[in-house]
Amino acid sequence: MPDLDSVIREIAAEMAQRSDRGAVADYIPELARVDPNQFGIAVIDADGRVTTGGDSETPFSIQSVSKVFTLTLALGMAGDRLWKRVGREPSGNPFNSIVQLERECGVPRNPFINAGAIAVTDLILSGHEPREALGEILRFLQFLAQDPTITIDERVAASEKRTGFRNTALANYMKSFGVIENPVDYTLGVYFHHCAIAMNCRQLAMAGRFLAHNGRNPSTGHNVVSAERARRINAIMLTCGHYDGSGEFAYRVGLPGKSGVGGAILAVAPGKASIAVWSPGLDAAGNSHLGRVALERLTQRMGWSVF
Ligand code: DON
Repeated sequence: MPDLDSVIREIAAEMAQRSDRGAVADYIPELARVDPNQFGIAVIDADGRVTTGGDSETPFSIQSVSKVFTLTLALGMAGDRLWKRVGREPSGNPFNSIVQLERECGVPRNPFINAGAIAVTDLILSGHEPREALGEILRFLQFLAQDPTITIDERVAASEKRTGFRNTALANYMKSFGVIENPVDYTLGVYFHHCAIAMNCRQLAMAGRFLAHNGRNPSTGHNVVSAERARRINAIMLTCGHYDGSGEFAYRVGLPGKSGVGGAILAVAPGKASIAVWSPGLDAAGNSHLGRVALERLTQRMGWSVF
């Protein structure tokens, strides 16, 4: 078995050298300001040993990676009733696409495309004040990462709200089918803010540990979800976590993973490790370019593919 420390060191050194970095998201103006010449990685193994490389302590906007945690929370609240509001099939379309919603009666394909994540947020919101629902999501992440300092980047949230025309369209469209129950403004307010949670690679890898270990954080002993639920969340990450790039990610990396337009990817090597990578430059599908390359190297070297 290769030594993880040296593998991470080599990956971080290679990523620092590369000139193909992708392009930062610019449809959220605040994200367009992020320096693309950054790369971070954190791996936490089954014993809780943390191995990091590059800019692993620099906070970034987790964006769509938050959708793994909102899905987990919503399943805890609604159980399988959730699947009446959102499907679990890959969409084969960009993350912000509206085309399938008309044909499919406003029910989004899966909880990770924007429409699906907005529907999940609406479910978490039901019966609560927006700030309570948002507090619930933030506290869940602080609990998972065992770090009460994790916060929301209000500038990113405000920036996305100002330019969130597509998400507003998606939410209104779903509302017309009765899939969104709360006022659209409330649901979107919570959605924009949970996407704007800021974390670093180490915190994100920590938060994902329960997915790598049958629903349980092996260090704290906290049972977050059942083993069956963890398996199912991983299945949706593998099939839908990278939108219309999910097939390519499974082919190259071979792990359940969830990306965000801030450039983060959370990947899960079941029984072995929770991994967070971050590099702000994105590929054409809106997934971190060097994040994916780094994970490809890591799983090849460590033999961590699930296949
Ligand atoms: O709703 C949006 O467009 C963003 N808050 C999140 C999208 C995203 O992260 C897509 N991921 N690669």
